Amino acid sequence: MNVNDRIYARITGTGSYLPERVLSNADLEKMVDTSDEWIRSRTGIERRHIAADDQTTTDLAEQAARRAMEAAGVGPADIDFIVVGTTTPDLVFPNVGCLLQQRLDIHGCPAFSVETACSGFIYGLSIADRYVTSGAARCALVIGAETLSRIVDWEDRGTCVIFGDGAGAAILQADQAPGILSCHLGADGRYWDLLYNPYGTSRQRRPDDTEGPFIQMKGNEVFKVAVKTLENVVEETLRANDLDHHEIDWLVPHQANIRIIQATARRLDMPMDKVVVTVQEHGNTSAASVPLALDQAVRDGRIQRGELLLLETFGGGFTWGSALIRF
Ligand code: COA
Repeated sequence: MNVNDRIYARITGTGSYLPERVLSNADLEKMVDTSDEWIRSRTGIERRHIAADDQTTTDLAEQAARRAMEAAGVGPADIDFIVVGTTTPDLVFPNVGCLLQQRLDIHGCPAFSVETACSGFIYGLSIADRYVTSGAARCALVIGAETLSRIVDWEDRGTCVIFGDGAGAAILQADQAPGILSCHLGADGRYWDLLYNPYGTSRQRRPDDTEGPFIQMKGNEVFKVAVKTLENVVEETLRANDLDHHEIDWLVPHQANIRIIQATARRLDMPMDKVVVTVQEHGNTSAASVPLALDQAVRDGRIQRGELLLLETFGGGFTWGSALIRF
């Protein structure tokens, strides 16, 4: 190989996992004052999957990781970098990356998690891309995994209809063929209180707190900032690669709300049959949502080798990101 040849990080395998238990909109009608019609028309969600009581985020991540490793044809000895996007870790520490590493019988390589809410997978992908393209890693395991059901208030109709559990994974390998072409990340903490969970480790519950330890969301305001920010990040990605939107084969968006997805597709002038939509099946699974959608479209044969993919996400923080990928 010529020293001047660029090394790319190529996605060589994807995997995903949804817990067996399904909670339909009809089930939610029995729990809160809502309706299937309202949920479908405002969000596009039909059902979500809920982790069993004894299933943790690492359990979900493990299933997705094993499927991605099998698809890529790699074993534990090949993997030299692990990053997990999650906001719902099993423990305060060790991080989910380390717990997963032990499950997979991988030892010694860096393993960590990133806590950027729904943007966790794309943040992780971007970090792994830097490691692989710099030559510091050759085979990275990138995961998004969540058990959001544990931090949802099941009596709050404004949030409980939206979120679900799941995991998605991708294997990135060094290659001379493209590859991830560019990643774009951003954040703006000024919006922190539009979408957050009030309790952590350092900030304990106070006597005058009225909120429970659950996701708090000003849905309408989140919606507006999400649409604008996603428009900006997809345009930034196209500009950076000197691309016209018609050159994108597939938009693989964060699966938060069908109306947000449609707004971004309109902006890119993309017909909806070029947009991977899985939100109806699992709701908003935060960091897991983009790799879940990616894996589904790869496995059902929609996404083909050589096609150009635009991944995008937006989440609490606010954080956001995109990745342009020659698959
Ligand atoms: N069922 C029935 N009615 C509901 C409801 C539910 N599950 N949730 C809220 N409502 C009601 C509200 O109480 C309100 O009633 P009111 O007019 O009597 O006050 C009405 O529906 C409209 O509420 P609003 O919040 O304006 O609805 P919306 O059209 O903005 O839809 C969301 C709500 C949450 C679906 C939407 O704002 C959204 O998806 N936001 C983005 C959330 C998101 O993506 N978060 C994660 C980002 S990563």
